[in-house]
Amino acid sequence: MTATVTSETAEPGGAPQSSGLTFPDGFVWGAATASYQIEGAAREDGRGPSIWDTFSRTPGKVFAGHTGDVACDHYHRYRDDVALMVELGLASYRFSISWPRVRPDGAGPVNHRGLDFYDRLTDELIGNGIDPVVTLYHWDLPQTLQDRGGWTVRETAEAFAEYAQSVYARLGDRVRTWTTLNEPWCSAYLGYASGVHAPGIQDPVSAFKAVHHLLLGHGLAARALRDAGAQTIGITLNPSSVLPLDQESAADQDAARIIDGLQNRIFLDPLFHGRYPADMLEHMARFTDLAHIREGDEAIINAPIDVLGVNFYTPTYVSAKPGQAAALDNPGSEGIAFRKPVGPVTDIGWQIEPAGLTRLLERLHKDYPGTPMMITENGAAYPEGPDPATGRVPDTARIEYLDGHLRACHDAISRGVDLRGYFVWSLLDNFEWAEGYAKRFGVVHVDYTTQERVPKDSALWYRDVIRRNGLDDRSPTEG
Ligand code: FCB
Repeated sequence: MTATVTSETAEPGGAPQSSGLTFPDGFVWGAATASYQIEGAAREDGRGPSIWDTFSRTPGKVFAGHTGDVACDHYHRYRDDVALMVELGLASYRFSISWPRVRPDGAGPVNHRGLDFYDRLTDELIGNGIDPVVTLYHWDLPQTLQDRGGWTVRETAEAFAEYAQSVYARLGDRVRTWTTLNEPWCSAYLGYASGVHAPGIQDPVSAFKAVHHLLLGHGLAARALRDAGAQTIGITLNPSSVLPLDQESAADQDAARIIDGLQNRIFLDPLFHGRYPADMLEHMARFTDLAHIREGDEAIINAPIDVLGVNFYTPTYVSAKPGQAAALDNPGSEGIAFRKPVGPVTDIGWQIEPAGLTRLLERLHKDYPGTPMMITENGAAYPEGPDPATGRVPDTARIEYLDGHLRACHDAISRGVDLRGYFVWSLLDNFEWAEGYAKRFGVVHVDYTTQERVPKDSALWYRDVIRRNGLDDRSPTEG
């Protein structure tokens, strides 16, 4: 696709101004959620336990002992939630399927009542003109599979491909876009290295095995989906925009190479080039004999894909710092310091730097060319709730964040990046993993006592962006 974009630029020589921007025709506007974060109904209709049920019940793991037992009760309220999507004018909705609803034992028989829910949801979406984008794995691994080793064992990758087939068999006649995994970086390193996410393990060897088995699971599932007739297959990563703090320093550049390897190339190279990068093989060999990577695996991982999903929130700056202990979630990163956020941050403490997104998209376009991309998540945590006087949720900072990042997307498109769509994270405030319900990413506010939904000002702003397929030339906060 050749992108045609227009922009009304700032006055010559003047300070950069907020200006009107139009996105290419057919640019997909959407919103995203994930099963464990919104569904609730944790024990209904035959759903089995997931690693997040176990983890959230483990004292000290999740803020204030919050769990996804009820969450946004989307399982029962999905019709109202689709009605909200219609109000916003969404063209597409990205949601994930709960593996333990579909196969409560992970690899055992299919639970048709679990699939019924996704069947109803898909029909509701399509009936309202909203295109479903399905993610097969957004972190809620069946607990039974974790009991047998989780992502550290090959059997989980094989079970994933079978599960993918069972979902396709039910929804494949209506769902066009299939995403295998969401952010395998988080599943592997936060789940098995730092342990801040389920299953809460702290072991670098397990983390590297998980990286491989997640990728293998993706490859096996992509092949199975393709054989079954799936049209558009992809994977969503959270590639990081990693920069050396001092761009001139060779030591900082080397620090950036290692972190870029651990966060980006270890996933992207096997996916797009069919081989792990040599420096990362060496890096992993410090921890494991690599026997879990079998002959032929990289070719499986290299299965052709039609779209790369990119989730972006914040950039990463690193420098060489002798004596620095390794960051647990980046095994082998001793001697490397991660810069603390500078400048404005969101409520979760993440630095705001839209230019990092443009930089990242251009880099992906250059190093892994030929595959269209979608922003499958981008958004910000801010705490605002309804103003008692007006009933409105004045989340101006979120509007600014989204406006800045959409301008960054537009910039990337103008520079030739094949970016096809944007999904805001998230439709609803929801269970934000280890942060529980304390961090709110929704463009729609959720009162967790009454389950009342109130579109925030950002939702109304986003609706207007969608309507005009672009940004207007006012500063987003002018009202
Ligand atoms: C991403 C996750 C998503 C949400 C956002 C804030 O890493 O994919 O579920 O938690 O961060």
